Amino acid sequence: MQGYFNHMAAAGSGHENWSSRSAFILAAVGSAVGLGNLVRFPAEAGTNGGGAFVLFYIFCVVLIGLPVLLSEILIGRHGQAAAPSSFRKMAQESGGSKAWGMVASLGVFSAFLILSFYCVLGGWVLYYIGLFAADVLATGPTTGAFAGQSFEQVDSYFGAMVSDGLATGLLDVVFLGITVFFVARGVTGGIEKVAVYLMPAFFFLLVGITIYGMFGGALGQTVDYLFTFEPSKLTGEVMLAAVGQAFFSLSLGVAGMVTYGAYVGRDVNLASTSGIIAGADTAVALIAGLCIFPIVFVAGLEPSGGLGLMFQTLPHAFSDIPFGTLIGLAFFIMVAFAALTSSVSLMEAPTSWAMERLGLTRVSAAVSVTVAAGVLGVLSALSTGALSSFHPLGFIPMFEGLGILDALDTFTGKLTMPIGALLTAVFIGWVASRRLLDDENGLSGGLHHFWLFLVRWFCPLVLTLILFGGVFPKTTAQIFAAFN
Ligand code: PFF
Repeated sequence: MQGYFNHMAAAGSGHENWSSRSAFILAAVGSAVGLGNLVRFPAEAGTNGGGAFVLFYIFCVVLIGLPVLLSEILIGRHGQAAAPSSFRKMAQESGGSKAWGMVASLGVFSAFLILSFYCVLGGWVLYYIGLFAADVLATGPTTGAFAGQSFEQVDSYFGAMVSDGLATGLLDVVFLGITVFFVARGVTGGIEKVAVYLMPAFFFLLVGITIYGMFGGALGQTVDYLFTFEPSKLTGEVMLAAVGQAFFSLSLGVAGMVTYGAYVGRDVNLASTSGIIAGADTAVALIAGLCIFPIVFVAGLEPSGGLGLMFQTLPHAFSDIPFGTLIGLAFFIMVAFAALTSSVSLMEAPTSWAMERLGLTRVSAAVSVTVAAGVLGVLSALSTGALSSFHPLGFIPMFEGLGILDALDTFTGKLTMPIGALLTAVFIGWVASRRLLDDENGLSGGLHHFWLFLVRWFCPLVLTLILFGGVFPKTTAQIFAAFN
């Protein structure tokens, strides 16, 4: 009932609100929890020294991610508009320049670029759902996955998929289609629905598969792998990887959380809500590690880094355990759910911008974003196959040798996301009026001052270092080497 009234009141002003605080939390956690938690975090933790990475990651979430997350949601909630207008409104009320709106415009643009390649990866996940579903149908649910097939055969699925531009391009369009189906239905009618149903389902599958994996007997090895803390492994590179991962995982620096913040009601305490979102995202990343590695270790496999962990190592691992084919299917369905709630938030940022700026209806705005992201997405999908030797930004050292998909990932992850987050922290720390922040942030006393200290000094400093490390990796490596 309350939701109904909120919806009606908001409809009158042309602006929708989440129907409840928990709906917002689920949607924001849905945005945060995605391929970053399930693919990137375990792979990065494994290859970057286990416990050293994990502990430093938690430190980054608390001291750098969380303050910026609170800032982004706060800017959105204050503005109650598309992200650039929300920035502009706060800037003007604080006596700052309207040009601050450009920070969010950059964010909206990054969200669009990330959407374009994220849905390609979402399509890959659909491909694996298809592989496992076909396998369950062929062999029944009790066997290991791909029974009777050789190691090389199982390994070859990934290569065959990425070089098949027709399949990956089509599946990219399918994943975008599912995303736009929910975005076009609006905040309460679509975006919220997908989060409210899929996030609990996701969590259920995650916990279920993790418990299943624990019976295999490799939990001790996993805990050693993920949590043994060796201070010597905490190198500069590991620290940069951890901060970058924290930002990607919390969906920061791309206007996504500003956009979702705009639908938050005035009565919601933003500080505690941000804490819940960051806590849930981190918990899922840690559980994902505890879910994946026992299965990998029981099969006697070496965990690989990057996408290989999910698309090659895990399918091998699933082939070695009882019910592996069914567990594998459940696993990839779970990944698809997580990716979908993230792609919905990535699409919402440019959609709300197009509605406001171009005066489009929600449906036309969402469909236009989809068409544009589809074109870029299909090109990205082709970049792992037919277009693999096309390196559009290859003349710039940091993009050397990268195809379209990798170039988009690098451009957003190493440039636009850190820039967006850095400028957001500077904006809140140095431009926004203290009175306004006081009214909005839900913090009091020492915590309020600590948050201000973090966004004024600590976050900008660390984000500048990340940016430098991303743009000048060689120089950074030399500097680190001099210290090691
Ligand atoms: N946080 C998502 C993940 O970990 O997969 C990725 C993401 C979603 C980044 C939404 C940015 C965003 F706006």
